[in-house]
Amino acid sequence: MCGIVACRMPGAAAPFLVDALRLLEYRGYDSAGVAILTTTGTTVSSRTTHRVDTLERQLDALDQSGVDGALSGTGIGHTRWATHGAVTEANAHPHRDCTGRVSIVHNGIIENAVELRAQLEAERHVFASDVDSEVVSHLIEHELRSGCGLRDAVTAATGRMRGSWAVVALDAQSGALVAAAHRSPLLVARSEKGVFAASDINAIAQWVDLFQAMRDGDVVELGEQFAWTRAGTGVTPPPFVSSIWSGTSHGLAGHADFMGKEIEEQPETAARIIDELAPRIANGSLWSELQLPPFERVAVLGCGTSLNAGRVIANAFGSLGDVPNSSLIASEGQSAIVEPRTLVIALSQSGETADVLRAIDDLDLGTSALVALTNSDHSTLARRADSMLNCNAGPEIGVAATKTFVAQVITGVAMALSALAATRRIDREYARRQVDDLRRIPDLLAHAIAASQKAIPPLIDEIRDAQGYLFLGRGSGVVYAAEGALKLKELSYRWAEHYPAGELKHGPLALVEAGTPVVVIDSGDRRIESNIAEVSARGGRVIRIGGAGSTIPALGLSLGTPMPGGIDRWGPLESVVPLQILARELALALGRDVDKPRNLAKSVTVE
Ligand code: M6R
Repeated sequence: MCGIVACRMPGAAAPFLVDALRLLEYRGYDSAGVAILTTTGTTVSSRTTHRVDTLERQLDALDQSGVDGALSGTGIGHTRWATHGAVTEANAHPHRDCTGRVSIVHNGIIENAVELRAQLEAERHVFASDVDSEVVSHLIEHELRSGCGLRDAVTAATGRMRGSWAVVALDAQSGALVAAAHRSPLLVARSEKGVFAASDINAIAQWVDLFQAMRDGDVVELGEQFAWTRAGTGVTPPPFVSSIWSGTSHGLAGHADFMGKEIEEQPETAARIIDELAPRIANGSLWSELQLPPFERVAVLGCGTSLNAGRVIANAFGSLGDVPNSSLIASEGQSAIVEPRTLVIALSQSGETADVLRAIDDLDLGTSALVALTNSDHSTLARRADSMLNCNAGPEIGVAATKTFVAQVITGVAMALSALAATRRIDREYARRQVDDLRRIPDLLAHAIAASQKAIPPLIDEIRDAQGYLFLGRGSGVVYAAEGALKLKELSYRWAEHYPAGELKHGPLALVEAGTPVVVIDSGDRRIESNIAEVSARGGRVIRIGGAGSTIPALGLSLGTPMPGGIDRWGPLESVVPLQILARELALALGRDVDKPRNLAKSVTVE
């Protein structure tokens, strides 16, 4: 989705902006642009509906042409993922006012843009694009006419706006740079390399160690010192936070793509998380640290892969502690009724998914409590929840969620166990046996990777031309079938459906013909044999993911050692690995970009 960067540095801004925009590419975008202050007090801007590489070439050409003066170290940049207005250069950011004095970049949605635009046009402002964001530059222009500085102008302009925004404005006349945020993430940071703002820490992590996350309504002048205000009044700045993005995280480390790298990181990620959480699970302290009220039921909410992770966690509450549980698709959250004393767990790796944020706004929580399970503890979701648990997956660049799913499940199940032990729904000895099971997960994941890497590539030729794919499971396997179908759709652009295997005969069986690939997650329910027989009898190509003897023998069942706690009641978590690898291999065979699937974004900040 859209991304923002801004800088004021001693050297040239252009190379920084280009590099930072490249680091935002993983979020998905369809146009990009920058505006840079010149040494003669103008701004030059460059935009493209192509890739950031094109922008870089345009900027080189501008620099060599001498423009109005040398390009300075102050500038703003943006990657746009179109929502309002077509993908055109005119709609790409930055947007300017009528005079060229003000340039802005904006993420979010200005809900009253139509109304504001009509008012501004009546005052003879001339618009150059179709997008809601352009009203911001004209509103600031309008305020500057009264002679105030950029910070006051931005404060007044945002005071007229409704909706969500992360804005950085650049004033060519004064050289001032001002950031404003409301319900859309924006971070600011300062180091010996300069002053920076970004919508995503990934963009600036190479230049700063600490950053500050702007809160709703904040306006910050990015000068020598940062001046923090809200509604024109000085406020205490938020705390400094350190970045999880190390310099080395950006590299592929010998992998062909980030998705492949992140799949392979899963055993190590799981081991690190379990080591960190294990001592606080059976004694209940992980739960008590969250300081949440007692609960009688659990509801998970999220979107896409995060929702699937939530469903596994809900299953864990139910199967381990008999806690009634439900799951809620966040984009449908407006009609949900939360019963009293419900523990609501909102999952989002980014913590910025608009559907999730809207759902938690819409829910009437009453006596219920909200805990966020996210990979970003400075995210909007983390800030709005009653309590927060970081799944600590580390940076995930591929748009397809892989290791964040595994991290969310482990962290959420650890929380479930700790809560069940703390509230005496399970005894501590039982909880300890579950923790022993958790400790086996890294090996199970590693086994699943090895088995999948061997078994899946030879299958691909056989299934690559199929028009559709079915994914089946039973019981705890159904949610993995859902995740497998989601991954395959997202990466290969082919149709895929998931069903509880028992439902096959009630309709979807009509889709099965000779060669139809049907992926079955065999998590141990013997009734699945008859569902497999139903497919085979019609010539379907059954791909069984299970223990030894399966098409993909990736599940821990094949490892032979009994699970002390019966972990597969809510698992088997490792079955996600062959599903990820299957989707990736098929997508690669079809020539898809597995890190940046078409039309999708890493952080979905629109409803
Ligand atoms: O950032 P979130 O976890 O809230 O994102 C939710 C979904 O958009 C996300 O899981 C999406 O389904 C993934 N791209 C799937 O791989």
